Amino acid sequence: MAILKSTLAFLVLAFAFFICYVMSSGSYDYFQFVQQWPPTNCRVRNKPCTKPRPLQNFTIHGLWPSNYSNPRMPSKCTGSLFNFRKVYPQLRSDLKISWPDVESGNDTRFWESEWNKHGRCSEASLNQMQYFERSHAMWISYNITEILKNASIVPSATKNWTYSDIVSPIKRATKRTPLLRCKYDKSTQLLHEVVFCYEYDALKQIDCNGTAGCPNQKVISFQ
Ligand SMILES: *[C@@H]1O[C@H](CO)[C@@H](O)[C@H](O)[C@H]1NC(C)=O
Ligand SMILES: *[C@@H]1O[C@H](CO)[C@@H](O)[C@H](O)[C@H]1NC(C)=O
Ligand SMILES: *[C@@H]1O[C@H](CO)[C@@H](O)[C@H](O)[C@H]1NC(C)=O
Ligand SMILES: *[C@@H]1O[C@H](CO)[C@@H](O)[C@H](O)[C@H]1NC(C)=O
Ligand SMILES: *[C@@H]1O[C@H](CO)[C@@H](O)[C@H](O)[C@H]1NC(C)=O
Ligand SMILES: *[C@@H]1O[C@H](CO)[C@@H](O)[C@H](O)[C@H]1NC(C)=O
Ligand SMILES: *[C@@H]1O[C@H](CO)[C@@H](O)[C@H](O)[C@H]1NC(C)=O
Repeated sequence: MAILKSTLAFLVLAFAFFICYVMSSGSYDYFQFVQQWPPTNCRVRNKPCTKPRPLQNFTIHGLWPSNYSNPRMPSKCTGSLFNFRKVYPQLRSDLKISWPDVESGNDTRFWESEWNKHGRCSEASLNQMQYFERSHAMWISYNITEILKNASIVPSATKNWTYSDIVSPIKRATKRTPLLRCKYDKSTQLLHEVVFCYEYDALKQIDCNGTAGCPNQKVISFQ
């Protein structure tokens, strides 16, 4: 009887550990590749950005392994912590252009927090170096700033756009539906981020779904 009990206790414990492991080792379904418009970061921030004039280029916020059921998950998985030595000098100088910390200016700290929060959750598919290399390659593949510029969508304090005004040219160029994310400054809805979605392997771009981005069919300002 005692043996049976302890066997049972062992099985329950093992199962609990298994569940914890599965949850924290970060299974995910697809990737969200998020690019941000630095002037919006700086405008809604409670203190000024370190650079007096924010970059007028879309730059990387992060590459986020995501779940269909909850796109904010997984996060903060187990797995190796950020190791700066794995970001080789050439890659480092690329990332300083594509993935700068536009707010406080410490690029390394930004990469560290993105890897520790998100990158670790997809470590089974992309190790740290591959994670940063893939992200840079995704940034290179389409220049959102230029796609919008070619469609006459340039920063302006007076123009208003609809969601589809902004999505359409990007969709035309990439053949995939992106997602937009906005931030509010008082009642003005500002374009903040453009999200591309990628398959599990982070190679093939797919349509993003949902309308979570910029709510309420409200006009969007890009400035
Ligand atoms: C945008 O990035 C490119 C490099 O990719 C740089 O040459 C250019 O000066 C940047 N433009 C602005 C306005 O920051
Ligand atoms: C994410 O989804 C996968 C498979 O769909 C599932 O196994 C995993 O538990 C989910 N993870 C989280 C953190 O929601
Ligand atoms: C930038 O962040 C890194 C990583 O968190 C840290 O080691 C370094 O001291 C920071 N540098 C500055 C100048 O604050
Ligand atoms: C993207 O396009 C913008 C606007 O044309 C340009 O300033 C920038 O240098 C381009 N970035 C890259 C990496 O080519
Ligand atoms: C933008 O327009 C220029 C000039 O017509 C063209 O060379 C360039 O390829 C276009 N870029 C994009 C991203 O569509
Ligand atoms: C843009 O939309 C705002 C409401 O968000 C409105 O107050 C403003 O007059 C509009 N501007 C133009 C040029 O239509
Ligand atoms: C969006 O929906 C399409 C069609 O159902 C599907 O193929 C695709 O994987 C979905 N993308 C995401 C990111 O959920």
